[in-house]
This record gives sequence, structure tokens and C-alpha cells, in this order.
Amino acid sequence: MSRVFYVTTPIYYVNGEPHIGHAYTTIVADFLARFHRLCGDETHFLTGTDEHGEKICQAARAAGMAPPAFCDQVSGRFRAAWQLLDISNDDFIRTTEARHQRVVAAFLQAVHASGDIYYAEYEGLYCVGCERFLTDKELVDGKCPDHQVAPERRREGNYFFRMEKHRPWLRQYLQEHPQFVRPEGYRSEVLSLLADPVGDLSISRPRARVPWGIGLPWDDTHVAYVWVDALVNYLSAIGYPDGEQYARFWPAAQHLIGKDILKAHALFWPTLLRAAGVPVYQHLNVGGYLLGPDGRKMSKSLGNQVDPLALADQYGPDALRYYLLKDTVYGQDSAVGEAFLVARHDADLANDLGNLASRARALLLRHFGGAVPEPGSPSASAQELSAWGTGLLTRVSPLIENLRFFEALEEVMRYVRRLNVYFSDEEPWRLAREPRRRPQLGAVLYNVVEGLRIAASLLEPAMPRKMAELRASLGLGAADLQATQRWQVTPPGTPIPADAPVLFPKVDVRGAGRIPGAAGARQPGARPREAAAAPSPAGVAAAPEQISIEEFGRVDLRVVEILAAERIPKADKLLKLTVRLGGAEQRTVVAGIAQHYAPEDLPGRRAVLVANLRPARLRGIVSEGMILAAIGAGGRLTLIEPDASMAPGDRVR
Ligand code: MSP
Repeated sequence: MSRVFYVTTPIYYVNGEPHIGHAYTTIVADFLARFHRLCGDETHFLTGTDEHGEKICQAARAAGMAPPAFCDQVSGRFRAAWQLLDISNDDFIRTTEARHQRVVAAFLQAVHASGDIYYAEYEGLYCVGCERFLTDKELVDGKCPDHQVAPERRREGNYFFRMEKHRPWLRQYLQEHPQFVRPEGYRSEVLSLLADPVGDLSISRPRARVPWGIGLPWDDTHVAYVWVDALVNYLSAIGYPDGEQYARFWPAAQHLIGKDILKAHALFWPTLLRAAGVPVYQHLNVGGYLLGPDGRKMSKSLGNQVDPLALADQYGPDALRYYLLKDTVYGQDSAVGEAFLVARHDADLANDLGNLASRARALLLRHFGGAVPEPGSPSASAQELSAWGTGLLTRVSPLIENLRFFEALEEVMRYVRRLNVYFSDEEPWRLAREPRRRPQLGAVLYNVVEGLRIAASLLEPAMPRKMAELRASLGLGAADLQATQRWQVTPPGTPIPADAPVLFPKVDVRGAGRIPGAAGARQPGARPREAAAAPSPAGVAAAPEQISIEEFGRVDLRVVEILAAERIPKADKLLKLTVRLGGAEQRTVVAGIAQHYAPEDLPGRRAVLVANLRPARLRGIVSEGMILAAIGAGGRLTLIEPDASMAPGDRVR
């Protein structure tokens, strides 16, 4: 059944160049849009630029240009950037367009008609960077913490929206809709904001002071406050109030934003929508901040900025897209940099994926005249590959729906690693030396082609360009998610092109870190990163010896209660533990403590679990985390044991 999917990014201010934070949100939106299109969903993907307000006026002045020409220029740079990153947006809205201005007027008129707008004099501290009045509580040392400037005291007549009136409704709505704002941490943040009065929202500026804006329909001496103007883009682009796209797409709207603009989207926007009589959006998806490779907020003065276009230029857009999706945990802050990208690229893409494809291709060309061979009768390992591969979509889809992008990609990459193990276990190069085993050789290559077909379709939303190349290099057709649920789809005899470029040339060979002056670029003479050891999300394992507090913060350490412990046959160092992690959640953990603890001594004790460690199979048991222990002289082990006052699930910092 096809569904409807409408995804938006924030519209970007035209007072700066496209940077990695913009690119990140836009790539995530593109990944989602491409995935939904491949699922057959009716998809609409919107991005654009935010062009009104005082801050843009000031930037135009500083550039010596009139605002319209300035906006045209910078907005054009955003469009060009998204083309370079293969962003497949269906529309690009600019707030200076007539279609937007009309809708802002209609929307504000609807709010006005509800009786929720009044006029008042207001005096407060205004930050031009934020384009809003700040409360005393928000200041740090008298300055705006985001822009590091002292706000100006201003007194002016504004129209106000009775936002406070809608607070009880919004609070209840959030309580009843746990998926409205996600991930969960941001929903709690909004709920705590709503525990106290939120005040009313100033929605206009006197035209005499800010001439660059959209006039209020009932009083043209005032222009709409830039945030109200901007938020309405999500409606204006689809033709609110009576457009056909509005009727179709709005009920399915999902916004993607960065955490700094949570308040505008989780508080101003739903209350304004309600006052205007428009149903609220489905989901607000909140991303964390991308930090410099040193784990600090990116800034010119620290020289730790990471330029997305330079990275895409050097390594290709797909390497950047894949890296950002695989090495960040959506919702959390992540340190990013060129060296992390290179490590990820070489480990996952060059070693695991590209290498397998090129080895399979070489044998197909040499021994089967460049045509896909017959599948033969399936062996036990081939059956395992087919069952695993055809089940991937059902595992990956919910992860994507729930914004767990790195886990979704890791599911596919785990399968690619399994294909590699199959390939080396079957030793096709040895089979090729024995003519009577040719059918077996054909079957192995057939199965690898099928596995790669499935992986290429599932990885298509992350790497559209490279996956098209991969499929072409194996003679496969367009990406097809439905077909990933079937095996033996590729017809035997399908021709494979004789020439195909190396899919992911290893960067270590090419020489990494060559973007001059790039933050996180490898220093000349520095030891190359260990490419084979795939770093954990956010490049933690690939980080230099010192790690930042944010990187450490990504390790989820929890108190657990040991419920049961048993020996594992033929593994004299290992115990299988069953631990409780809070509530009813239980985990199985394989721990190397059998020579230090008797199983019967463990139940009832507390321990510390690394709870977000990727599961691993040890002696046939899936271990879902790691228990911490201190290692003393002579390898003596003692568990790190919180006392009994700590409850299972409590955090360890
Ligand atoms: N124009 C407003 C949005 C209006 S939407 C109705 C705006 N524009 S912005 O250009 O300043 O920022 C757009 C988005 O980029 C924000 O969501 C912000 O969080 C995100 N990022 C800016 N720097 C970032 C990082 N370093 N990392 C991740 N995202 C960050 O706000």
C-alpha cells in the first residue's frame, strides 16, 4: 500500500554560505525522501532559503548589495550546493517569492480572525542574531550564548500572538503523542519548557525599522516577524489553504531541524497552526549538532570548520553522505572531520563493499565470459545468505522510520561482511582451477551477485550515484526495494560490462587528508588511520588518543543487576550473563570473567554495562553489551560494582 511522505528541512538563512550543519540536515532529508520513493510512497521533499529580516538586511549592506540581489546570489549558492550533493528535493522555496508572501498573509489573517492577536508596547533585550527578544534567564554573562553579543534594549509597539493561551493544549498533545517530537530527549525538553508560562509571541516588527519583510494584512505599517514568516514556508510551498498538494501532503508532514531551533518549531509553530485552524504536523525530528574534529563547536576562530563541498569534491558526494549517516547518532552531537570520513570510507566502502564487487566481477569476466552464471542448487550457506538478505528490508525499514540511520546502514553492512566471509570460505579462485567444479564456482558467484543486488538497493538512498555504478558494473537494473525480498531475481546470462571504474578507490592509497587547511585533515607524516577496524558511530574509535567530553558522552554506561550466570561449554574464560537494565529490559552479555568469578556468586550483584555497544556473536551467543571490570596485576579481574542503592538502568558518568 503506498503511503504519503512529506519531508522538509529548515529553510537556510542567506547571510552565510552552506555549511556542514546545513548539509547534514539536507542529506538526512534526502536519504528519507529517496527511501520513501523507493518504497513506492508518494513523496514530497522541500527545502529552501529564509531571506527576510534584519539580519539579512545587515548582511546585504555589509556586502554592498541591495537585499533582493544579495538574496538571489546566496540562495543560488544553496541550490548549487544541493545539486553537488545529489539532493533530490522536489521543490525549493524562497521566502521572497510571491507564492510565499500570499500565503503568509492568508495564514496570519486566519490567526487574526481567531482573536488571538493583540497590539502592545514591549520592552526587552533583542538579539539580532536570534531575531528575537531574549529573557534574562537565557543570557550568559550578559550575552546571547549562541551569538556571543550583548543584546540591545528595545522598546517598540508589536502585534502579539496569545501563545500562552495554547500552552495547556500543547502540553497535553505532547503527552498523548510520544512521537510528535523525537528523539525522546527533545520531547522531554519541550515538556519541561511547557511546565511554566511561555508568554505571548511578538509576531511583527515596525516597517519603519525593518523594511525587508512581508506586510501584515491588517496593518501594513508592520511586517511579519521573520520566524513567523519562515515557518509558514512549510505551508506556502504546497499551496495552503486550497492547493491540491496541501490537501495531499500536509497530513503527512515531517520536519527535520537542528536542536537550536527547537523552540520555534515545537512551541511557536504548533500553537500558531492551532490558532489558524490548521492541523499540526506529524513529526518534528530533531538532529544534534555537528562539532569540529576536536569535539568543539565549529568556529572560524578555532579553525575547526569542516567544509562539506570540499569533502564532496575530494571524496565524492556519496562518501560524504554515507559517512554523515553512518557515523552520527541522529539527535546527538557528533564530532566530524576529514580523517574520520577517510577511515569510514576505507573500512566500509573500499574494503567491504567495493573490493567484493571487484573480485566477483574479475572472476565472472575471466571464467564466465562476462555473463551471470546459473545459480545451481542452493547449499546451506547459500540458503543462509538468501534468508538473511531477503529479510533485510523488514529489519531496516523500522530503523529508518525511527531515525536510527546508522543502525540501518550497519544492518546492511553486516550483511556485506557476511557476503565477504562466504566468498572467502568458498574459495572461488580454488574452484576455478578444477573444471569439474565449475557449476559450484558459478553458484558462488551467482549468490554474491544476488547479495550485492540486495545491498545496492538498500544502500541506494544513502549513495545514489555509487550504487547506480555498482549495479551497472554487475549488469543489474534499477534499484528495487521490493525485489530485495526475493532471491534468484537476476536472470542467468545477464551480461556484465567488461570495463567498470573502481567503485571506491582506497583513500589511503590515494593519500588522505589532502584538503588544504581542512579541519581534521591528516598532518603530513602522520600515521595512516587503521582502516580495517571499522570505527564505531561518530568515529569514536578513530579519534586521536585524547577524546572530547562529547565523545565520551556517547558511551551509554548503565547500572545493571546480574540475574543469572552460566558457564559456556568449551569456553573456559567466558560466562553467559543475563542482566536487568531497568524496567523489564533484560540483556544477554558474554563476559570474559569465568576464571575470576563462580557463576553462583554473581546473581544479585550490580555491575556496569556498556549498553550501546554494537551486539557481537561470541561462541554462538549474541552478546548485547559489555560488563566493565578492572584489570589488576597478573590479569586479575574485579567487576566494577556500584552499591545496592543504585537501581538497574541508572546512568554511569
Ligand atoms: N532560517 C532558520 C530556520 C527557519 S526554518 C522555518 C535557521 N537557519 S540557519 O541557516 O541558521 O540554520 C539552519 C539549520 O542548520 C538549523 O536547524 C541549525 O540547527 C542547523 N545547523 C547550523 N549549524 C549546525 C551544526 N554545526 N550542526 C548541525 N546543524 C546545525 O535557523
